[in-house]
Amino acid sequence: MRIIVGITGGIAAYKAPQLVRLLVKAGHEVRCVATPHALEFVTRLTLETVSGNSLYCDLFAQTNNHTTEHISLKDWGDAMIVAPATANIIGKMASGIGDDALSTLLLSFSRKPLLMAPAMNTQMWECPAVQRNVAYLVSTGIEMVEPGTGDLACGTTGKGRMAEPEEIVQALARRLSRAADMPLRGKRVLVTAGPTYERIDSVRFIGNYSTGKMGFALAEALAARGAEVELVAGPTALKTDNAAIHRTDVESAREMYAEATRLFPGCTAAILSAAVADYRPEHTADHKLKKQGDEGMTLHLVQNPDILATLGSMKQEGQTLIGFALETDNEQANAQRKLERKNLDYIVLNSLRDAGAGFGVDTNLVTIMSRNGDSYTSPLMSKREVADEIVRRCLLPESATLLANNEV
Ligand code: CTP
Repeated sequence: MRIIVGITGGIAAYKAPQLVRLLVKAGHEVRCVATPHALEFVTRLTLETVSGNSLYCDLFAQTNNHTTEHISLKDWGDAMIVAPATANIIGKMASGIGDDALSTLLLSFSRKPLLMAPAMNTQMWECPAVQRNVAYLVSTGIEMVEPGTGDLACGTTGKGRMAEPEEIVQALARRLSRAADMPLRGKRVLVTAGPTYERIDSVRFIGNYSTGKMGFALAEALAARGAEVELVAGPTALKTDNAAIHRTDVESAREMYAEATRLFPGCTAAILSAAVADYRPEHTADHKLKKQGDEGMTLHLVQNPDILATLGSMKQEGQTLIGFALETDNEQANAQRKLERKNLDYIVLNSLRDAGAGFGVDTNLVTIMSRNGDSYTSPLMSKREVADEIVRRCLLPESATLLANNEV
């Protein structure tokens, strides 16, 4: 999982590197976000070294790729822990205040597991305003990893010590295994991604510009909700290291067809996002073809099998099939026809007209259409966020109500 660790300015910040180390050891990828005060207690270098990633601290730093890093980070993270959480960050979060990198990120981190490990002096912890804020945050679904009782940095003894890093890691593991956060646990989902390459000879092929980013984002979004993912990927430079994603690499449409039709019967759903070549050369030379002179060269192409339509004809009761469509005119009507013709449950209409959508870029804008004509059009979002929306609106129990009347 991708875990964001938020660190605020309390003495317990010295335990944050140990927490990060334990999370990395447990197989998570970690990114740290610190308040400026936290860096009075623990250094940037320590946090970057233990996490293996750059630290996010300054909302307006010139080194940020863009000033909306809090938005890209909230897409990146599957869960978030704030440890230590001071009375100040708890108060800001409870009041909806975002005035630095961490508090701004917290405000945008919704619908995903968020834990806080408070640490403060006993009187501060018992202060009615702090207790009210804690109770309010708990009521919104944020989990408090209760502080322990013991010696405090101020020389007194009482409640307010931050929970030990081991306890925080266990609390996160418990939270991540909760059914509510893992609605797809026990489900296997097939995803196709990337382009296909259709060989002409030993050194040339017919391909397309698909990078596989949308399909890989879908695989991550599914795995983050507990699904086992069968990812069938065409040639792509993208990597996955998520244990819940079982990846099969293929090259041609026919190889993708063979894998997808083999895997589909064991899956409860399939999302076909690959940009499959509709045609392939009839003959493939096993050597490099020589130039053929002035009269040019003719390649005779034959049609590839339609993977999506085949899965549509194989589909059994209880299986959900989702396809993608790239249309240039009469987009919605054509997509709806494609949905019916291929026996799909949903079709995701990709926009080619909007800047920022399509091949290669990190963002996308889609319309998700269901069998009964309901639809949802997304704003321009990161591909991971689009993936989350597709999963939420097509595969989760609440999906039935989420497409009707274009609800958000
Ligand atoms: N697809 C597939 N196998 C193919 C071609 C397409 O599984 N041989 C899938 C894609 O993964 C995508 C969907 O079909 O989910 C839509 O592909 P698209 O090219 O838009 O539609 P086509 O059915 O090929 O129709 P047309 O090109 O005529 O619009």
